[in-house]
Amino acid sequence: MDKLIVVGGKQLNGEVDISGSKNAVLPIMTATLIVSGNYKINNVPDLRDTRTMIRLLKIIGAKVDYTNKTLTIDTRNCNNPSAPYELVKTMRASFYVLGPLLSRFHHSQVSLPGGCAWGPRPVDFHIKALREMDVDVKLDKGNIIAEGQPKGGDIIFKKKSVGATGNVLMAATKAIRKTKIINAAKEPEIIALGEFLIKLGAGIEGLGTDNIEITPIKNENNNIEFDVIPDRIEAGTFMIAAATIGGEVNIKKIDCSHLDVVTSYLKKMDIDVHMNKNNLFIKSDGKYNAINIETSEYPGFPTDLQAQWMAMMIKANGDSTIKENIYSDRFTHISELVRMGANIKLKKEIAYIGGVKRIYPAPVMCTDIRASAALVISALSADGQSEISRIYHIDRGYEKIENKFSQLGANIKRVKS
Ligand code: UD1
Repeated sequence: MDKLIVVGGKQLNGEVDISGSKNAVLPIMTATLIVSGNYKINNVPDLRDTRTMIRLLKIIGAKVDYTNKTLTIDTRNCNNPSAPYELVKTMRASFYVLGPLLSRFHHSQVSLPGGCAWGPRPVDFHIKALREMDVDVKLDKGNIIAEGQPKGGDIIFKKKSVGATGNVLMAATKAIRKTKIINAAKEPEIIALGEFLIKLGAGIEGLGTDNIEITPIKNENNNIEFDVIPDRIEAGTFMIAAATIGGEVNIKKIDCSHLDVVTSYLKKMDIDVHMNKNNLFIKSDGKYNAINIETSEYPGFPTDLQAQWMAMMIKANGDSTIKENIYSDRFTHISELVRMGANIKLKKEIAYIGGVKRIYPAPVMCTDIRASAALVISALSADGQSEISRIYHIDRGYEKIENKFSQLGANIKRVKS
């Protein structure tokens, strides 16, 4: 297993290019299953999760090639509409194949995802919605067996869900009649998926709003090229890292409009942020006042940046709170940050943070993708050498994180343990 050895205390300076979005490309890869054809997807990040999704597409019968950030996927010979537990348990996003397989084969068998490091993470919204579309959904030996062509109709979500909105969007593309999703997720990754489905031939209105209406595909397009949007969570991670550690960093190849909430909080903290459409410049001396945040659905503060934000607040001037409104248990990083000298008390879904003057190096362990990024930021802001283990979590969602930070002058290297 690889480890990261990080010697902190050095400011970040220079430029970093942001990769394509993990959470956008994963559902788009599954959407290539809907219509038998040939697909070319550009700006695909080289991540453990994209590699896992390639394995899953191959199990289903697709031919896949991944060269120079471009995926070519041939879904003409797919004949196995199923997703096995071995893959679903390592990556919950595998569950995204459910909607596409139903659209294409009117049948699918997908292993039920278990819990994860931050709680039970149910899929009840997905199942209820499919049943409301007249699909017969049963649970058998840990698998979801879904049968029938989705009929469409009005799907009302009691709470916004990115995954359930994505699955219903894909199940609706070849439904018998129109589908209306009420209280849909508005994340840029859902808009990107919707734009891919429009290229396939679906009529979709209301992307990026609370209500989305899907008219099923009449004339299929089965030879599509698509560019993946930039990863706003990777970009946000580098923004927070630069603010915390200090320095002057130019974050390139991003969509600044996806990062408004992070930018506005950093500006409130008097951190210098300038942007044009696809680049963002951030300058910080690593000293800032504490500020309270709470996570919420897009366009609110993303839960996927909560851990990294905490790594910034632990050395802020003053006290702050972080309220986690999406996943109330998503706090596995706290015990590791405390090992580095942080002062954090957790009461239910609110972390109370007392800013400390110094963060200390320590051996720490990754528990999930974003918690790992928080540990990297914290290790880079500590004076001395830290060792970060179980970094396979980082590799699920960050493309060669050590190279990108090294390019900014950080002292960070990967070693085999
Ligand atoms: C996606 C992202 C993940 C991000 C999350 C929230 C991908 C691959 N993953 O996960 O990185 O942290 O959005 O922005 O894009 N819920 C239910 N029942 C369900 C589905 C969801 O109760 O059937 C609840 C969840 O427990 C959570 C909330 O709804 O409290 C939002 O979850 P959801 O948006 O579905 O997250 P994911 O799509 O799994």
